[in-house]
Amino acid sequence: MRMPEGAGEVTILVPGKLHPHAVSRIGEHFKVVELERADPALLTEEMKQDIVGIASSETISADFIDALPRLQIIANFGVGYDAVDAVHAGKKGVMVTNTPDVLTEEVADTTIGLLINTVRELPKAEAYLRAGRWRSEGAYPYTRATLRARSVGIFGMGRIGRAIARRVEAFGLPVSYHNRREVADLPYAYFPSLLALAEAVDTLICVAPGGAGTAKAVNAQVLRALGPNGVFINVGRGSSVDEEALVAALRDGAILAAGLDVFADEPNVPEALLGCENACLLPHVASASVHTRQAMAELVAENLFAWFSRGEALTPVAETVHVRAKA
Ligand code: DGY
Repeated sequence: MRMPEGAGEVTILVPGKLHPHAVSRIGEHFKVVELERADPALLTEEMKQDIVGIASSETISADFIDALPRLQIIANFGVGYDAVDAVHAGKKGVMVTNTPDVLTEEVADTTIGLLINTVRELPKAEAYLRAGRWRSEGAYPYTRATLRARSVGIFGMGRIGRAIARRVEAFGLPVSYHNRREVADLPYAYFPSLLALAEAVDTLICVAPGGAGTAKAVNAQVLRALGPNGVFINVGRGSSVDEEALVAALRDGAILAAGLDVFADEPNVPEALLGCENACLLPHVASASVHTRQAMAELVAENLFAWFSRGEALTPVAETVHVRAKA
């Protein structure tokens, strides 16, 4: 990468924890300032004057954006950027980037793993073996659920949704989906409402983005529509689900089981969910391999390099695609 004259003066803020590879790559070309969290009250006058970019996986509020008058770009670590007020950034002429593509296949792989673990209870079967119960009590009980004869609905048919759909097809299961808009040239049945999709399938996989548009979209009615053999899998955002309704559905048998990688208030998983034997729970690991997180970190850095060297963002989010670099 060729940086322009004076590029060494570019100051990038890293609030909270960020992948170390991103921090070191950014530090090769720019000055990095670390801050405990993205709180306007923690910014010094010097920071306010110097900071032109943010690299982060934290919440970036409108207030924080407003507190940085020279801010040009927020490079979000993660494909989901619901933690960043991208609409406000767009209005203020601040570019926001995310990390699509590099994690698509990893997240899709993990989703299938979570689905199988949920229906075939593999984590519980392993715990049974490790506790010596196979030897003392005999074979692990047959699982009530199976993937066989299931019909899968995908909520959110973006890049990851499509990668999941391809895998589900390979398992010989029919796929249908709900999305804000029908996606052209897809061989899957489209349902214009989430409820209609849930009524048509028994297995719902949520990979929808978070934010106001999807808040608690998976509610009691949607869960009930899946039926008593229903399985709900979430690798999107916890905010898209009414967690109280989910606990009730798992407890009273409105659905059979759930597999969750994401929660509304991470890392705080509700006690009530922890108490559900028919829930398979993961600590938001869908993209969390060394390989994929490294690629995401690299893309965060590359977005900043492209922006400050040639005024381009490699992976701008939809809300800021109109933003142009200041001359
Ligand atoms: C994302 O990229 O949005 C995933 O949730 C991983 O953090």
